[in-house]
Amino acid sequence: MRVLVTGGAGYIGSVVSDELLADGHEVLVYDNLYKGHRDAVADGARFVQADLLDGAALRGALEEMGAEAVIHLAADSLVGESIEDPSMYYRNNVQAGLSLLDSMKDVGVKLLVFSSTVSVYGEPEEQPILETAPLAPVNPYGETKLAFERALRWYGEAYGLRYVSLRYFNAAGATERRGERHRTETHLIPIVLQAAAGKREEVTIFGDDYPTRDGTCVRDYIHVADLARAHTLALESLGSGHAQSRIFNLGCGDEGSTVREVIQAARRVTRKEIKTRVGPRRPGDPARLIASAEKIASELGWRPSLPGLDEIVDSAWRWLLRRGSP
Ligand code: UFG
Repeated sequence: MRVLVTGGAGYIGSVVSDELLADGHEVLVYDNLYKGHRDAVADGARFVQADLLDGAALRGALEEMGAEAVIHLAADSLVGESIEDPSMYYRNNVQAGLSLLDSMKDVGVKLLVFSSTVSVYGEPEEQPILETAPLAPVNPYGETKLAFERALRWYGEAYGLRYVSLRYFNAAGATERRGERHRTETHLIPIVLQAAAGKREEVTIFGDDYPTRDGTCVRDYIHVADLARAHTLALESLGSGHAQSRIFNLGCGDEGSTVREVIQAARRVTRKEIKTRVGPRRPGDPARLIASAEKIASELGWRPSLPGLDEIVDSAWRWLLRRGSP
């Protein structure tokens, strides 16, 4: 299919683009490089550097490639930042998203795969989390992603948009060519590996008094290559005419890993000492977020191929070593 990928110069978007190209799809990366990197645009993809709020550029790109579908990954995605600057999150996740939907409507593109998040659930009591769990975001990040998901429903009913929304759990790890490199790093695995590489003195564990097996937060880490594969499966289900729009959780669905387990895995993988200190809880962190991965397994046939924490951390470590500078 001919697919426009928003945010294709970002961490997940670049892996998704590689996966699409490997599967024989045509890709146009649409990215303003505000957080993405030019050298992360997949070889073999066309590239347009423009903003989603620029409707003329967007319609031009969709028309120029004769896009049949869009994978929409461009977004802001940090919980803490969203609490400090909700205006930016509403602009980039809702307003820019609606600009995309309107441009798609104007040029007649009706298929969309959307990067949503577990943050739409807030702090659900029942774990693993089913797609039917109550939607109760506790920060502007989750709120803005949910607002866009809700718009999808109504654009679907009124204009015939068909979509798959993938609610990501914790994306992590690297492929041979792509890995995580945010200008300001807040994610646990890259931070732990920076400490292993001597680029950071220690890792602060944000709270060890949670009601979990070792007192630190539990997350469902999913390898970015597995995450990317879910996008091609979702796209292909839409392309092959699956009539219904669908929402899936996208996590491994096992017992997850605590912060301390991630640090232990990094010590095993890197054979480095990693110093830690326990700090206060980070505002907005739920104790435990584990996916039920049943629905995506039964309906899309998706299962993680790299579910082990050590493999995930090892892939991220090898990528950092290849780049020469964590
Ligand atoms: N953590 C630390 N120390 C650090 C960094 C993180 O203890 O220096 C802890 C956090 O408190 C949290 C866990 O490690 O308990 C994971 O934190 P991340 O920042 O790596 O990931 P989050 O779970 O906070 O958020 C990420 C994405 C969101 C997404 C969410 C889904 O940033 O976009 O996963 O769980 F919604």
